[in-house]
Amino acid sequence: MRIIKARTFLLVGAFGLLVLYLCKDFSDNKTGHLYLDVREDDSKIRQTTTNNSYVYSWPNCQQNMSAANITDFNKLPGHIQDFLYYRHCRHFPMLLDIPDKCGGADRSAEVFLLLVIKSSPVNYDRREVLRKTWAKERLHNGVWIRRLFISGTMDSGYEKKRLNKLLEMEQREYNDILQWDFSDSFYNLTLKQILFLEWMERNCPKAHFLLNGDDDIFANTDNMVEYLQGLVDNDGSRHLFIGHLIQNVGPIRSPGSKYFIPVQVQESDSYPPYCGGGGFLLSGYTALVIYNMSLSITILPIDDVYMGMCLAKARLAPALHMGVKTFGLNDPFSKVDRYDPCYYKDVLLFLHVSLLLCRKTMISNSFLFFI
Ligand SMILES: *[C@@H]1O[C@H](CO)[C@@H](O)[C@H](O)[C@H]1NC(C)=O
Ligand SMILES: *[C@@H]1O[C@H](CO)[C@@H](O)[C@H](O)[C@H]1NC(C)=O
Ligand SMILES: *[C@@H]1O[C@H](CO)[C@@H](O)[C@H](O)[C@H]1NC(C)=O
Ligand SMILES: *[C@@H]1O[C@H](CO)[C@@H](O)[C@H](O)[C@H]1NC(C)=O
Ligand SMILES: *[C@@H]1O[C@H](CO)[C@@H](O)[C@H](O)[C@H]1NC(C)=O
Ligand SMILES: *[C@@H]1O[C@H](CO)[C@@H](O)[C@H](O)[C@H]1NC(C)=O
Repeated sequence: MRIIKARTFLLVGAFGLLVLYLCKDFSDNKTGHLYLDVREDDSKIRQTTTNNSYVYSWPNCQQNMSAANITDFNKLPGHIQDFLYYRHCRHFPMLLDIPDKCGGADRSAEVFLLLVIKSSPVNYDRREVLRKTWAKERLHNGVWIRRLFISGTMDSGYEKKRLNKLLEMEQREYNDILQWDFSDSFYNLTLKQILFLEWMERNCPKAHFLLNGDDDIFANTDNMVEYLQGLVDNDGSRHLFIGHLIQNVGPIRSPGSKYFIPVQVQESDSYPPYCGGGGFLLSGYTALVIYNMSLSITILPIDDVYMGMCLAKARLAPALHMGVKTFGLNDPFSKVDRYDPCYYKDVLLFLHVSLLLCRKTMISNSFLFFI
């Protein structure tokens, strides 16, 4: 009993910290906590980056001017117009790369679970917490868990340079960031996803499983590994795609919604089944199939729906796993918005409770939480 209590306290402590970190992040100015002198530290940082980096120098992708000829283009919100102008762009230079993250393509089978976490450059605090908690790189049950944050760029001019410099410093310390030179916006999340899959095919094609998610989730990665090891007929070389399943829905047509998709972006009124993008678990096999499919599917800005489209084209189905708890947060059709920080504070408390209740008993098949 004592032991359990002590663990409970530890857990509460850890999450208290997480709450603090997250709340701090929300109340601070966007980058307030990142203001440190970049120049000063440069010389001290150990040089770990090797020169086998696969850094493209893609030419700048040009606006597609004929996008403006689309019916009622001028009536569309600015970000949708912007999306349509750049919808065809799929290649961006890599600013931070770790080609040997998985020990090289040939040895990448040594990675059992690759954690792939979408994170914006400014979310420094969140990455810090994740590195120390569920996303810690480690050997669990005899297999390797590795971690990657995937990122774009923010702002422009000096501000962009400064943020990139900070990310570079973080990279030298932790060696866990992939960064491409595109604007890290909500509408570019699909692009980020595709760029990662392309990277994976090149550098980590044999990883057994991947957890793909946002940097504001809590995932019980120990349970996840044990669950995956328990799959009888799948070592990652067969189809697996599980998460919070969303079915029988279609594009939201009201311009006020964050998930607004006008007919000019997608005509069809229905989406294929998909798993909420806050976090889903998939096999290496399925990841590569999705990448392959993506090559011939026009980009839709909602990243999780796009994954569903790729699966549908490959005739593979996403599935629901009871261990995935979203509290309605990851579902655009509930009233709650996964990107609205105000909701997290309330839900965190709920998270505490459910984590404590679940521990030891129900948690055996419960491993993914969204906060
Ligand atoms: C946050 O940033 C805005 C604009 O950059 C500035 O006007 C404001 O004073 C800042 N607030 C704090 C608390 O630093
Ligand atoms: C890295 O290697 C490429 C060619 O392999 C070379 O052109 C480039 O100068 C090298 N960069 C550094 C920093 O050594
Ligand atoms: C777009 O419309 C303009 C005139 O409105 C026309 O000159 C141009 O050729 C059109 N472009 C395409 C690619 O249809
Ligand atoms: C540019 O946009 C037009 C109108 O949507 C589209 O028909 C065309 O295929 C696009 N071109 C490219 C290169 O994506
Ligand atoms: C996506 O990123 C590209 C490259 O930075 C940028 O031009 C474009 O505006 C971004 N699109 C959206 C919808 O934010
Ligand atoms: C990729 O997809 C094409 C068809 O679009 C198919 O012919 C090819 O076999 C696929 N490759 C892999 C590795 O799945």
